[in-house]
Amino acid sequence: MITPQSCQDIRSRWEELDSFIEETRDHEHPQGSLIGVLHKTQELFGYLPQPALNHIAQSLKIPTAEIYGVATFYSYFSLVPKGKYCISVCLGTACYVRGSATILQTLQEELGISAKQTTEDGLFTLQEARCVGACGLAPVMIVNNDVYAQMNPNRVSEVIHKYRAQEVEPTS
Ligand code: FES
Repeated sequence: MITPQSCQDIRSRWEELDSFIEETRDHEHPQGSLIGVLHKTQELFGYLPQPALNHIAQSLKIPTAEIYGVATFYSYFSLVPKGKYCISVCLGTACYVRGSATILQTLQEELGISAKQTTEDGLFTLQEARCVGACGLAPVMIVNNDVYAQMNPNRVSEVIHKYRAQEVEPTS
């Protein structure tokens, strides 16, 4: 089950972000530490919340628009909360020629969302990936840290069901 974050938990994340900004700050070239700070922010919050971007802008004295430009340029960064399970479908050449576009299409139909979106229950985020370095296993789909090799559209339902089932089964 997804549990709400406690106020204490959220406060400690902001404190950790502030500490990281202080440790990595380069007063002469604040832009130099920006990517690292954005990575840290996404690691702490799971995405880049707007208040955090405003806070970073103030702390590093960089215009918010510039930070937003960097955050939207790199596909790694997300401005919206990600689901508990991030599904990446590789659309690199080796995977694409072996049918990964059809796998993506089947996932979109199964989950009722498009790429870069998250299901309403907050469980799944669907994203497109470029070569993930496992071309010999093409087509490849990754769910968090689980790699699904030689994936095909007929297995999509089964994989999604496995993660949905984990949410209802009591954990020991
Ligand atoms: S193209 Fe998909 S892993 Fe390389």
